[in-house]
Amino acid sequence: MKKMKIKQALLLICLSLFVLSCSKSDEEVAVIAGVPSAYAAVNLTDSGFTANWTRVYRADNYLLDVSTTADFSTLLPNYNELSVNALTIDIEGLDSGTTYYYRVRAVRGESISTFSNVIVTEIISTGPEPTTALKEAANFNVGMIVRSNRLTGITSDIILREYDNITSEYEMKMDQMYPSKGTYDFTAVDKIVKYATDNNLNLHGHALIWHNSVPSWVTNFVGTDAEFETMVKEYITTVVTRYKGKVKSWDVVNEAVDDGSGNPLRNSIFKQKMGNDYIKKCYQWARAADPACKLFYNDYNFASSATKRAAIFKIADDLKKDNLIDGLGAQMHISYKGPAASEIQAVVDGTVSRNLLMHFAELDIQANPDNNLTSLTPERAIEQKNKYKEVVKIFNAIPAANQYALTVWGMRDSESWLLDFWGHIDWPLMYNEDYSVKKSHTGFLEGLK
Ligand code: G3I
Repeated sequence: MKKMKIKQALLLICLSLFVLSCSKSDEEVAVIAGVPSAYAAVNLTDSGFTANWTRVYRADNYLLDVSTTADFSTLLPNYNELSVNALTIDIEGLDSGTTYYYRVRAVRGESISTFSNVIVTEIISTGPEPTTALKEAANFNVGMIVRSNRLTGITSDIILREYDNITSEYEMKMDQMYPSKGTYDFTAVDKIVKYATDNNLNLHGHALIWHNSVPSWVTNFVGTDAEFETMVKEYITTVVTRYKGKVKSWDVVNEAVDDGSGNPLRNSIFKQKMGNDYIKKCYQWARAADPACKLFYNDYNFASSATKRAAIFKIADDLKKDNLIDGLGAQMHISYKGPAASEIQAVVDGTVSRNLLMHFAELDIQANPDNNLTSLTPERAIEQKNKYKEVVKIFNAIPAANQYALTVWGMRDSESWLLDFWGHIDWPLMYNEDYSVKKSHTGFLEGLK
């Protein structure tokens, strides 16, 4: 009798466990635990890439969609809800130079999750990059920086073929033109001016007043503040007069806005010795020396900092009251990660709304801002290309009357100031070491379409 009762109890326990497991599986089938997150494509080749995504708790498998359209209206035959029992898959047989989109869903029994985020990726084009000359494709002036000892050979060939604007990288700054008190040295500038004149290039003067290019005798000026101001007036008047009609525009003051201190103006020696209105004085002297010259204010982080952007526009508004400014230069030392298109657009909108000329004055786009690459990978080359395309697209959409120029701050990657500045390898520009064009150059061209 006792044994019988034990058997009955055990049977009852097994039965309830069975019911529980069934009801549990019914309960489980009802709801899929989560939605996968898709990662950026990796292992890009000229015919495919690797897709991968996050694991969803207790998912049986995943459904993968690949399309050439962002709305997935048409799915690739082999990738139409393809069931994948893994978190990664090599997608192959794709067309080079084409953009693809992929997304995934998780499956558990009868239950399917909603779609993951969509990943966009461009398949590397196998062929050589197009070599269309930028200035032939652009409806605005395309600029390159120059040095007086690089105005010959292939560097010059490329400048003359692709560019209609030039900016002196460093030789038209105070420390170079005015190396000692009362003694100017215009040797390099005269060479650059002659090169521009001989080749019908528009020469942008950069930069009369900049805290980072002050000769030591000015830093350690011997004399009163009044004598300092007289010296600056004579310097600006001498330089602008000398190149009147040849230098079509000047960055009269560069980088006057302070970073992060909350004070609108950097405490430069010019501010210290001439007062807060030093900026207006410098523009007055430049305007008086060459009334036809376009006067610009130039600065960095114009897009990436809303605070700085507001301070720059305040300077512009103050100068505009006395018709002392014609344009704004956004340096555009950026990276493939940012600033966002909306921030760059805010620079343009504020400039155009003030009816000023827009100069994207020093464009370079870091491909390795986090120093996590030892070579320019195909994936990163495409991301950089897309950022060049985005920037050019924004500039290209500016009303013609407000487009001054889009100047790139260097030719070959190895020549970029960024390599010394950040102390690590990067590939921020549009030409390889052998002067062949990179994907970033293609991105520039695509931004013009
Ligand atoms: O070419 C001479 C060389 O002959 C000499 O031996 C050597 C040592 O004195 O100097 C060389 O010139 C240097 C030049 O770069 C070329 O390398 C100058 O000293 C050096 O001051 C100059 O630095 C320039 C810097 O501005 C300061 O003028 C960079 O090339 C230039 O890319 C950089 O550009 C600035 C923009 O004007 C303003 N926005 C930021 C941007 C980056 O700092």
